[in-house]
Amino acid sequence: MVDLKVQYEKIKPEIDKAINDVIASTSFINGPAVKEFQAALENYLGVKHVIPCANGTDALQISMMALGLKPGDEVIAPSFTFIATAEVIALLGLTPVLVDVEPDTFNISPSAIEKAITPRTRAIVPVHLFGQTADMDAIMKIADEHKLFVIEDACQSIGSDYLNATGVWKKSGTIGNIGCTSFFPSKNLGCYGDGGAIFTNDDQLAAKLRSIVNHGMTVRYYHDDIGVNSRLDSIQAAILKVKLQHLDAYAHARQQVAAAYDNAFRNQPELIVPAHNNHSTHVFHQYTLQVKGIDRNKLQEYLATKEIPAMIYYPVPIHLQKAYLDPRYKAGDFPVTEQLSQSVISLPMHTEMDHQQLNYITASVLEFLESTRS
Ligand SMILES: Cc1ncc(COP(=O)(O)O)c(C=O)c1O
Repeated sequence: MVDLKVQYEKIKPEIDKAINDVIASTSFINGPAVKEFQAALENYLGVKHVIPCANGTDALQISMMALGLKPGDEVIAPSFTFIATAEVIALLGLTPVLVDVEPDTFNISPSAIEKAITPRTRAIVPVHLFGQTADMDAIMKIADEHKLFVIEDACQSIGSDYLNATGVWKKSGTIGNIGCTSFFPSKNLGCYGDGGAIFTNDDQLAAKLRSIVNHGMTVRYYHDDIGVNSRLDSIQAAILKVKLQHLDAYAHARQQVAAAYDNAFRNQPELIVPAHNNHSTHVFHQYTLQVKGIDRNKLQEYLATKEIPAMIYYPVPIHLQKAYLDPRYKAGDFPVTEQLSQSVISLPMHTEMDHQQLNYITASVLEFLESTRS
């Protein structure tokens, strides 16, 4: 689905130097590379505070801890997302309240959020799925009215720009109280291991987040909060600082691949190409088609015979996952999510895709469609 090897080869001298410099310094933990990357990311995002941590899942968990959410508090999240979003809510003893998503953008539905609010609701976690920012104006308005926190799950959307109702562009993940991202290797800004970060413009919250990522400690060996150990190591930070300089170019390359896929598939009656909303740029963490009237799994199998990977993100909605079965929910409760989990398929998407690869993939998909018609 991604070609990290070719990407690495193109920036090898910069990356190798960054890694070697950290090794030579032996500042493996919280070294200067971490502070430098943090400052570079703050500058890129236009946000006051970036708090690096060990991965995107930790970023979400630490955010909920810093906001002081308590067992029994309800947190609204989409039913169509990667499990981590709901996992941390459950892990902290909070109550995940799932809501359906929009059929075109796959992002959380603001009207569904409104219907799910109860006196125990404390927070909303919009997930900017596949690289397009959710309708944050509508979500922030609901949050303001009901005095709720907003934690943006921007694990798939780093670099996406959001145009708010007052005509101001903001980076995805910098609009709510807190934003979270993941630097998993295949992410749009990926390191060479695990990594994550939390963003906020709130000074007090930033201090709390910094304490929690570091065992609840602000003065060494004095622990004011119950925290965790969640660090971005210096080698990963040094790699990320190099890759951050290429992030916009990477997004552009992904957008070009998406445009070529769109051109090839837009007029095929069996396919729905990804919708673009008019308030956000799409950075295409995934290029996800919906199929109509054909067997999605057969398409995936056919592509596999041609050595083209295609993935189903996500085959089982959260409320139908074994560990998350809950008497509050049953099959049929989230019709859009359930329909999407049966009909989506994501094609290879990466920054180094050449014309030959693209043509081979599009021709293979079209060949399959043709075979189903005859
Ligand atoms: C939407 C979403 N949330 C959370 C995560 C968790 O990130 P990580 O794998 O870095 O823990 C991911 C990435 O896998 C994700 O895609």
